[in-house]
Parts: sequence; structure tokens; C-alpha cells
Amino acid sequence: MAVVRIPEENRTLAHREAITEYLAACGIDYERWQPNHSVAADAPAEEVLSAYAKEIEELKVRGGYVTADVIDVNARTPNLDAMLAKFSREHWHSEDEVRFIIAGKGVFHIHPKAGSVVAIEVEAGDLIRVPRETWHWFDLCSDREIRAIRLFQENVGWTPFYTESGVDQSFEPLCLGLSYIQGSTSGSAT
Ligand SMILES: [Fe+2]
Repeated sequence: MAVVRIPEENRTLAHREAITEYLAACGIDYERWQPNHSVAADAPAEEVLSAYAKEIEELKVRGGYVTADVIDVNARTPNLDAMLAKFSREHWHSEDEVRFIIAGKGVFHIHPKAGSVVAIEVEAGDLIRVPRETWHWFDLCSDREIRAIRLFQENVGWTPFYTESGVDQSFEPLCLGLSYIQGSTSGSAT
């Protein structure tokens, strides 16, 4: 399950209801999906899409998405650093950014028009929808691996518009993990 941090307020959310509610207030949809049949994290893309066909179809109807695919980003990805550098600068898109995580981990930072920056650490089973025109950026965790289903409203693919605000420079792409939060005795998790 995801872990949500609001660094400027020194807050961490590690419970599903609290996370869903907080993100909804920021305009971000968060869900947990279960496959309709067991599927290995490294299964071929068609198998993964088939296992989540029901959820994908529901999302397509809800959000007007026309295509879905599976993206793999890992140490074997050509020009990985250049690719990650594109993700990790604050940007926005003219369509929703929708990701369902199959394997690996990453951190989305969301910069709401009003309110504090939110860091969302996602892992397998997490669906996140970042609405069009939302300012955000993304980093991998230290294992530098993620596999995700993507949905698109247009066929042109991933097109970023960079804000050049520099805000992304002020936030570390920390990946704490849920077990760290739950094992913490600091009491900061809510
Ligand atoms: Fe993006």
C-alpha cells in the first residue's frame, strides 16, 4: 500500500482511508486493485492487462481513456538516467497520468495549486490518477525498478510540459516503505 508524506507539515499517512481521503482533497484518485486471476509480476504485458481487464475497462469509461499498456523501467532500460531526468523535473500534462503499479516502487510528488507538496510512495497494487494540468514529478526508489499499467486519453503518448519552477529541487525522493512506517515508534504515522 502507498505511503503519503507531507514534508512541509512533517506528516505521514499510512492508513488506506486517510490516504484516500487526503489525496481526494488534492484531486488525486487512489485505489487498490486485485487481479481477477493470479498473474506473476513479470508475466507478459497481455497477461497483466487481461488480469486487470475489468478495472481497466471501468477506468476507461470513467475517464475517457483510449489505450492501456505496460511500461517497464529498470536497470536494463536503455538511457535510464536520461529517462529518469525527464520524469523528475516538475511538469504537467494535457491528459491524466494514470498508473497501476505491478512491481517495483516509486514516488510521485504532487504540487497542488493551494496547499503543501505531497509525496506519494507507490508499490504493487496501487492505482494513482494524477489529473491533467496537475503539477507533479516522479522518482524511482533506490532499486530503480518499476512496472506499471498506463492509461492514456490520447494516442500521442507521454508529453510533459515543464514548469521550470525549481520546486522539485527542495524535496528528497525518499522511499520509506510501509513496514518502516508501521515499525516506527515516533508516532508520526496517522
Ligand atoms: Fe508526469
